[in-house]
Amino acid sequence: MNVSDTEIVNSILMEEGMQPVNEPEEAEVIFINTCSIRENAEERVWNRLKEFKALKRERKDRDMTVGVLGCMAERIREQIMEKEELVDLVVGPDAYRDLPKLLSDVDDGQKAANTILSLEETYADIKPVRRNDNGVSAFVTIMRGCDNMCAFCVVPFTRGRERSRTAESIIEELQELSDQGYKEVTLLGQNVNSYDDGEHSFADLMYKASQVDPEMRIRFSSPHPKDFPEELLEIIAEQPNLCNYIHIPAQSGNNEVLERMRRPYTREQYLELVEKMREIIPGVTLSTDIITGFCGETEEEHEDTMSLMAKVKYDLAYMFAYSERGRTLAQRKYEDDVPEDVKKRRLSEIIEQQMNIQEELNKKEIGRRHLVLVEGTSKRSDEQLCGRTDTNKMVVFDREEHIEKGDYVEVTITDCTSATLMGDLIKKSSIQEYSRETVAA
Ligand code: 5AD
Ligand code: SF4
Repeated sequence: MNVSDTEIVNSILMEEGMQPVNEPEEAEVIFINTCSIRENAEERVWNRLKEFKALKRERKDRDMTVGVLGCMAERIREQIMEKEELVDLVVGPDAYRDLPKLLSDVDDGQKAANTILSLEETYADIKPVRRNDNGVSAFVTIMRGCDNMCAFCVVPFTRGRERSRTAESIIEELQELSDQGYKEVTLLGQNVNSYDDGEHSFADLMYKASQVDPEMRIRFSSPHPKDFPEELLEIIAEQPNLCNYIHIPAQSGNNEVLERMRRPYTREQYLELVEKMREIIPGVTLSTDIITGFCGETEEEHEDTMSLMAKVKYDLAYMFAYSERGRTLAQRKYEDDVPEDVKKRRLSEIIEQQMNIQEELNKKEIGRRHLVLVEGTSKRSDEQLCGRTDTNKMVVFDREEHIEKGDYVEVTITDCTSATLMGDLIKKSSIQEYSRETVAA
């Protein structure tokens, strides 16, 4: 989400005639787009600010403006303004349109801030400037904010109320991305299946998105397990360019913990949903988010999370130790009483189990055929290319002259680790060709 927001900020600033540079040393204005989701995300920002302070001291000759954007700006505006004399401006996630004015206030020698949250702002009319992507995959924000109020989560406080961008403006952006040669778009929101622009549901939007370009893959992140309509699953199953991969955050496998977390589903309902997904979309891969050591979590409750994960067998999991955040229900109502070393131990247990599951699942991939969208050169070797399957697994294979990034290729999986598949190239292909072949087979 922050990557996507930065692309909006780029656009607003470039409209004003500002130009991006590659190194902080060259910059006159430095913005740091911040995250508050866990304490360690905020710590990284404080450290980065220290680096900028040193930089500012080194180059006394030229002025340098430093701004803090995003969730931390919202959460601890006063603290940043007072403690960090370095910081000239603080701007929350709904106030980026105000950046040019705030920058001119700073030029006049004032400190400037806008952390007002909005009920409407979706930046729908602003064309993101994508500078750091690979030219193949892009993010498109479809909604902002969140109304769910999970007990552990700071997002509703830093990003405000839920609001959806119109389907029309989203489809227009998808068309432009397709014209520019992008082959994969991830639709983003804190809670995408609550998408509602007054006329379209998320399922409607996904269907419309699938029709823009049959050779453009569509992914999304993140949905909430509480409302996942069958209709959406059917649309994903039917449309070859809607990817068969779903991120479905469970957070915990124990009903009491889920209740304390204010997650309005039970373990049983969650497992039913997983079953339904696998039934309607054969071969679908799943990933999840897990929090370990939430307030009051007992050893048995932790075991329930372990057993849920063992039962579902996720292809990927983002696993975190609980980090208490100000203003959240958990902070006001519960004690953060699981000792740090216990949180860490439980986290390592779920990570270790998950790595074994991933390796086991990846081994089953050996011998299977996949359609891979080539993203570029593999990190490990210039002689190899890499890209993802429809099911979001990274595949590495030997480079061949006629294959370029942005191409679809068919590969046979030959080997794997817990994180990557290795494959042999069969031939260049396309979504339409591949889906005709698999239907015929
Ligand atoms: N502590 C740890 N993890 C958190 N997340 C959200 N809030 C917290 C917190 N206070 C995790 C959740 C969410 C993901 C984006 O971050 O798992 O799904
Ligand atoms: Fe946070 Fe819950 Fe909203 Fe996700 S759904 S952003 S975890 S409040």
